[in-house]
Amino acid sequence: MRDIARGWHAAGHSIGLVPTMGALHAGHMSLVDQACRENDKVVVSVFVNPIQFTAGEDLGRYPRSPERDLSLLRAAGVDAVYKPSVADMYPTGASTHVIVHGVADALEGAARPGHFEGVATVVAKLFAATSADRAYFGQKDAQQVAVVKRLASDLDLGVEIRVCPTVREADGLALSSRNAYLNPAERQAAVCLSRALGLAAEAYGRGERDPARLRAILREVIDAEPLAKLDYAEVVDAATFFTPGSLALVAVRIGATRLIDNHDLKLPYPG
Ligand code: PAF
Repeated sequence: MRDIARGWHAAGHSIGLVPTMGALHAGHMSLVDQACRENDKVVVSVFVNPIQFTAGEDLGRYPRSPERDLSLLRAAGVDAVYKPSVADMYPTGASTHVIVHGVADALEGAARPGHFEGVATVVAKLFAATSADRAYFGQKDAQQVAVVKRLASDLDLGVEIRVCPTVREADGLALSSRNAYLNPAERQAAVCLSRALGLAAEAYGRGERDPARLRAILREVIDAEPLAKLDYAEVVDAATFFTPGSLALVAVRIGATRLIDNHDLKLPYPG
């Protein structure tokens, strides 16, 4: 991968990277489309990164659709698909991890200890392997975006982080590979995440600025859904994740599936 990327740079081409864990859906493909518009060459990495799953999480059953992924990427016209094995990525003896402090500590970081260490480590390695000029991430994983921006800036990685809007189903559910785990009743219940964010955005639009009140609105909607169990509902600054701001985030368990979603309350809620 590095040799190919060096060749592209030597020929004067810019390189866009879309890091994924496969099981591609329209959300991923929107990142790929934007990368194709903005770069001469586009690499999509497909790697289910074991070190970002915490103990007891879904690593073993994480959805995988390798043939379908490849045909989607071929049809989209990407220039390379980078699919390292776990042994390629973490050879015996590898002992260096990247830890991002501060922004990685709260919310997802607190709920999933070690998760962002795994993300930051693999993303740094993917940036190195692909020599990417730009890398594309979905707003759906807002805290991951903040962590990766911090990583790229703090380590002077020279990669521009491009953030693409969340792609949603018609009823508002944010696309996620983990939606595949939901049974029909859970799928219906899962709409409570986007409904909660929409109601909080409406309240913000009417002038509500009290974070406690906004959090209560989020919580009330989730609590009203019998199949949903709230993990957290927060309103924070999108860059620091602990100072006050307008980014509303929810994490909810629907049955055995944990879903996250977010919306910047300053923006009108889509739909
Ligand atoms: O968002 C994801 O799919 C993963 O966290 C990423 C960025 C590909 C790193 O493994």
